[in-house]
Amino acid sequence: MDWKNILLEKENGIAVLTINRPKVLNALNGETLQEIGAAMDQLDGDDDVRVVIITGAGDKAFVAGADIAFMQTLKPLEARQFSRLGQKVFSKIENLSKPVIAAVNGFALGGGCELSMACDIRIAAENAKLGQPEVSLGIIAGFGGTQRLTRLVNPGIAKEVLFTADMYDAEAAHRMGLINHVVPTGELMNFCKNMAKRIAARGPVAVQLTKEAINEGLEMDLEKGFTHEADLFGVVFATEDRDEGISSFIGKKKPEFKGK
Ligand code: HXC
Repeated sequence: MDWKNILLEKENGIAVLTINRPKVLNALNGETLQEIGAAMDQLDGDDDVRVVIITGAGDKAFVAGADIAFMQTLKPLEARQFSRLGQKVFSKIENLSKPVIAAVNGFALGGGCELSMACDIRIAAENAKLGQPEVSLGIIAGFGGTQRLTRLVNPGIAKEVLFTADMYDAEAAHRMGLINHVVPTGELMNFCKNMAKRIAARGPVAVQLTKEAINEGLEMDLEKGFTHEADLFGVVFATEDRDEGISSFIGKKKPEFKGK
């Protein structure tokens, strides 16, 4: 497919999706969101892809937010539609059948921070700056930020971030639990690719069902979450990967999973 606002590369089971509008620090307009959504649909059905990494073009920004110039033209109903579009696209990322790593390579503000939060794992370069500056524009977070940030960090911290519009460096974001690891700027993609490689070597169905167990479990009470986990534990016993994984351990060899 011919993309206008993103790049999509695939190598050795790892797909890298780059938001590619460096002149506006990779800000998200409707067209870019549509392309991210279409890329997610494509990646979801692509058995050759086991892990996805999302990053931003250039050395300055992951995504500096929703496109402010684009938002200036929106009427209230259009703004609602834009918010819903972003929410739906980000939910596709959250529910993708494979893990998604955000490689946060600079500013991740507003919709950019929200994009990173829809990913399963966030790795930040030392120069990254994160925050939810919407209230400084007189608007509110609208791509899921009021909900995801509150679930990721505690509600008091989320409210501070969303009320003050303060920007946080990678270390501060790490301390609040928003970021998994902070790595030297030049090593970000290598670090993410190494992690992706480790995940890609595991049983793909097992990884997928683990993601489902965690995501769906967050919407359930603990006892229902346990039952759901046990159901998925049963399901995974119907896979060839389970035979391969267990017999490889017993036979002292490296498993070769097929994702079946
Ligand atoms: C459109 C943007 C942009 C954005 C930067 N640019 N962020 N354009 N939307 N979100 C553009 C600038 O206008 C500028 O264009 C170019 O990118 C470089 O940015 P500078 O401001 O010159 O860079 P710098 O001085 O280094 O400052 C970087 C920055 C600043 C701190 C990240 O650009 C900034 O504050 N950006 C806005 C961040 C923000 O408020 N994000 C939240 C948006 S609201 P020119 O043409 O001048 O070179 C949001 C809501 C989500 O995300 C929910 C929607 C439903």
